[in-house]
Amino acid sequence: MKLNGIKITWLGHATFSIQTPKGKIILIDPWVMGNPACPPNEKEVKAVDVMLCTHGHGDHIGDAVEIGKKHNPKVVGIPELCGWLGKKGVKQLAEMNKGGTQKVEDIKVTMVHADHSCGIQDGDQYVYGGEACGYVIEFDNGVKIYHAGDTNVFGDMAIIRELYSPEIAMLPIGDHYTMGPREAAYACNLLKPNSVIPMHFATFPALTGRPSDLSRLVHGVKVVEMKPGETIS
Ligand code: NI
Ligand code: MN
Repeated sequence: MKLNGIKITWLGHATFSIQTPKGKIILIDPWVMGNPACPPNEKEVKAVDVMLCTHGHGDHIGDAVEIGKKHNPKVVGIPELCGWLGKKGVKQLAEMNKGGTQKVEDIKVTMVHADHSCGIQDGDQYVYGGEACGYVIEFDNGVKIYHAGDTNVFGDMAIIRELYSPEIAMLPIGDHYTMGPREAAYACNLLKPNSVIPMHFATFPALTGRPSDLSRLVHGVKVVEMKPGETIS
């Protein structure tokens, strides 16, 4: 995996902290303090410049309000989700919708489809959160990373390959709430990344998919198995 100055840290589940070559910190799916898969020494977020939110489920934005208010990052999300975060006191909202690309700090971020639900649990009720999405992030060194969010495999992943050609794909493999290894392997056939980083597995007993299952099913794609808290550069 050629990262050319990018550092990727997996904080467990779907949460990644990525440092750009210029030193900006991108936090994808801010579920850190409440994330049982996040190692204790990573639970205190020290700096965030940009926060990307894939959808409103608690295991993705569970700490978005607290981190957003504390560090005041630019927050990217679908309008309904950004609107809800704004009501809770988060500033610097950079809302967008699917198919759009915007420059935020030193990355270009494109919002793409995800096949998943999206309600926001607010007290004892669910409020409408827009739709779930994924992101293709283009760094200023040319590297492109696709974070799929929570999703099933869908045929239009072929469009993501044709339009953006991300060399690294972060894909959920846990099964039950997202695709499992079988579907993720099919997604690899559509996306044809050089490397895939499995995520959204083992956090809870229901998330039974494992990187080894995916490795057995894919050909020509490197499965990069990270441990929570691990950084690759
Ligand atoms: Ni979800
Ligand atoms: Mn999830």
